[in-house]
Amino acid sequence: MKSFVCKEFGPLENISWTEIPEPLIEAGKVRVRIHFSSIGFMDTLMIRGLYQLKPPLPYIPGACGAGEVIEVGSGVSEIKVGDRVSFLNYYGAFAEQIITDEASIVVLPDAMSYEQAATYRLSYNPAYLGMVYRAKLQPGENLLVTGASGGVGLAAVRLGKVLGARVIAAIGTADKEDIVRQAGADEVVSYTSGPPLREQVKALTEGKGADVILDVVGGDVFDECMRCLNFMGRVIVMGFTSGRIAEAKTNLILLKNASILGVFLGGWMTRDLKGIKQLNKDLLGLAVEGKIPAIISQRFPMKDAVLAMDTLLSRKTAGKIVLYNEF
Ligand SMILES: NC(=O)c1ccc[n+]([C@@H]2O[C@H](COP(=O)([O-])OP(=O)(O)OC[C@H]3O[C@@H](n4cnc5c(N)ncnc54)[C@H](OP(=O)(O)O)[C@@H]3O)[C@@H](O)[C@H]2O)c1
Repeated sequence: MKSFVCKEFGPLENISWTEIPEPLIEAGKVRVRIHFSSIGFMDTLMIRGLYQLKPPLPYIPGACGAGEVIEVGSGVSEIKVGDRVSFLNYYGAFAEQIITDEASIVVLPDAMSYEQAATYRLSYNPAYLGMVYRAKLQPGENLLVTGASGGVGLAAVRLGKVLGARVIAAIGTADKEDIVRQAGADEVVSYTSGPPLREQVKALTEGKGADVILDVVGGDVFDECMRCLNFMGRVIVMGFTSGRIAEAKTNLILLKNASILGVFLGGWMTRDLKGIKQLNKDLLGLAVEGKIPAIISQRFPMKDAVLAMDTLLSRKTAGKIVLYNEF
């Protein structure tokens, strides 16, 4: 089978599209023929050795995808050959096949395409975990989403609307305004131009600030978020695309009765199998109702995954980028 292989952590260009022997199936595992995979910022961090988890080398990059089950190992109870599925693993997706744990698999409803299925588990899943399970976002609350044009960000904007919030989308460049508005943003602010973010957000919230903030950018943007948070506000720490891990000022947390909520989807889903099953059930329900469409900006053949990741890191794209295999 063909697959990308990362032999050492470093520049994205180090990985190569290579013929490798088909791995043998093991107990409790499922073999999926991958039709689509999607790219997340996390994949680019892992290849460069910048992610919190470093897989044993060599490894096959790519966390998320969808396809059909072509083999199951002994002991697999709920998945069968022929099922249409999505999977979320830390690695293995930039390939023609993946062998993954049964627990990482979700069987798809007929109405969901492989392409849509390949995107939602690293966009809507973390957004839902953050906003519903952690921050308990309420209808009518003001939700601020940073990095709102990205994979997680756009999902958070869309989901925020579905949950009845008033959504303020924070973006880096004005050319992304249309896409966040199409996803449902009520208001759009910038963290790279105009007055400081706190002033823009307070002007939109009668001087109060946002009730819930989902931050994927970190660094200076996180620091600014702490200044545009309402009393009793909740900040969801989702990621650090700026490259700097911020330090929260505890005086601001105290003064605002604020909560800083960490979200680590990968860590949570391995510890709470019942929880992740329920979360996926909820999201598939919303997907079938057409409430959380996949927002895909570009499609590349699987062999062009490096180009696709460079495109993601250029910040010139919005929504999800998908990779496809042609069999
Ligand atoms: N905690 C979890 O469980 C979890 C799960 C999934 C993802 N994540 C994290 O969430 C973050 C977003 O992931 P994603 O897949 O949505 O990424 P993405 O699609 O690349 O989106 C990232 C967004 O961040 C903004 N950004 C600001 N500064 C940036 C910079 N210096 N470089 C790149 N982008 C920058 C970009 O928008 P502008 O260009 O408009 O600023 C972009 O839209 C990542 O840190 C990822 O690791 C966490």
